[in-house]
Amino acid sequence: MYFVANWKMYGNTADINKSKSVIKLANLKKYKVSKIIYCPPFTLLSTFCDKVKNSNIFIGAQNCHSISEYGAFTGSINAKLIKSTGAKYIILGHSENRKCGETDIIINRKIRSATKENLKVIFCIGEKLSEKRKKNTYNVLRKQLINGLKGIKKIENIIVAYEPVWSIGTGLVPKNSELIKNIGNIKKILYKFKKSKSIKILYGGSVNPKNVKELAKIKEINGFLVGGASLNPKKFIDIIKKSII
Ligand code: PGA
Repeated sequence: MYFVANWKMYGNTADINKSKSVIKLANLKKYKVSKIIYCPPFTLLSTFCDKVKNSNIFIGAQNCHSISEYGAFTGSINAKLIKSTGAKYIILGHSENRKCGETDIIINRKIRSATKENLKVIFCIGEKLSEKRKKNTYNVLRKQLINGLKGIKKIENIIVAYEPVWSIGTGLVPKNSELIKNIGNIKKILYKFKKSKSIKILYGGSVNPKNVKELAKIKEINGFLVGGASLNPKKFIDIIKKSII
């Protein structure tokens, strides 16, 4: 099981220290098989990497510039720079960035540059409420997957995070039957398009200690991408404990 903490635009050095209890948990035998990944803002990547050295926790970034070489791009950070901090993962295609104009083509370029640096990509896809209402979810997911992963060879470096846009930060979570259907479709699309049966699929969107037990019953889900609740170490630990029985 993967547990990815997406800190978004939150967090300072003091918050890194609060993760002590999570580091302790991650080192326990029972949880060693699971992958706990913190994705803090860029400003904390290096410090966080130092903090988790010799532990069972990994660090990831939340986005990157699409160009893989160094260059004159004021204010930008590319996959090479992220790699140099010690981070091993990166979230790409998050709906909060798609909303700011990130297209499938840009996301595909970013995935290419991240996999070139051997970063593992947590590739976010998901339908908006209007698309769900129009019963267009399948087509939206298919388009995002095909366009985002076009030409990507190192498919073993991809983890897909299914995050319905309407469930992010809203407290709303799809019914288990809906999740099973959509994740089943994602797997079918990936098999048809990439001949891969082994890509891990995470669920993200309002995961919290109260709803995680129900979500964890879905065997097709390989873990969770957790936003709000991951900033609170107690809640994050609760989510991990309730998912692994
Ligand atoms: P949330 O965010 O858990 O706060 O809904 C999830 C995400 O955006 O990855």
